[in-house]
Amino acid sequence: MLVNMKEMLDEAVKKGYAVGGFNCASLESALAAIKAAEELNLPFILQHAPAHEEYIALDIAGPIMIDLAKKSKVPVCVHLDHGPDVNIIAKALRLGFTSVMFDGSAMSFDDNVATTKLITSMAHSLNVTVEAEIGSMPHNLKGEMKEYIPEDFYTKPDEAAQFAELTDVDALAISFGTVHGIYKTTPKLSFDVIKQIRLSTGDLPLVMHGGSGLTEDDYKKAISSGIRKINYYTYEALAGGKSVYDIVNKKPQGLLYHDVATYATEVMKEDVKRVMKIFANV
Ligand code: 13P
Repeated sequence: MLVNMKEMLDEAVKKGYAVGGFNCASLESALAAIKAAEELNLPFILQHAPAHEEYIALDIAGPIMIDLAKKSKVPVCVHLDHGPDVNIIAKALRLGFTSVMFDGSAMSFDDNVATTKLITSMAHSLNVTVEAEIGSMPHNLKGEMKEYIPEDFYTKPDEAAQFAELTDVDALAISFGTVHGIYKTTPKLSFDVIKQIRLSTGDLPLVMHGGSGLTEDDYKKAISSGIRKINYYTYEALAGGKSVYDIVNKKPQGLLYHDVATYATEVMKEDVKRVMKIFANV
């Protein structure tokens, strides 16, 4: 069933858990997430990030994601992750996405507010939900990250409150120490930052990006502090990558590609199930 984020996040706010947002960078990752959610009977968010365009383009992934969501037994929101500008957001809306993220975190506060407001009014008129970001996060997608001071990136609670009030967003991505991609060192997470932002923004669902690669305890603390959506991808993809070495070692000759893809999907599905259970507290 294809839905937007509203109901699933409202329910998460009411019951105090988090919904997973899983990226589709390949058909296998989309299938892994759908199968995991159906086996656990849990709603989830299937998302496509422009950073993954070189692996599977939005034009190709979008219609497949929407079709999979419509046919699914569980509620699935099809969401654009980290939309960098109005053109890509408009493209996702034309494709039938039920939710979009505008990432104006690198802009000035005023420009981020103005562009997010424009996108919120456009999306809401189509019953599409909107996530935006305030504060910024370091990236280590390709191992290129330099030394940084985690505290410099934390979202300021008063800015988050002002941003939420001015933009009418449905979910707000905040920065409290997580990093996209692979963690080189243990992240310095501030659960206090989440708690303060929650106090200043009320029931607005808060989103954790860079959500893979953390401990179960970290997830639980982040959720009890107020996180209601967790974006998860890199460590699922690492599990899928490792499964390829395993299957090649088991059968070094005569391996068929579809067996590799099926095995990797299964391994990624198990990784997704593991975290879905933690996020939903089941
Ligand atoms: P990871 O790189 O930690 O999986 O984060 C994914 C994400 O935040 C997508 O927006």
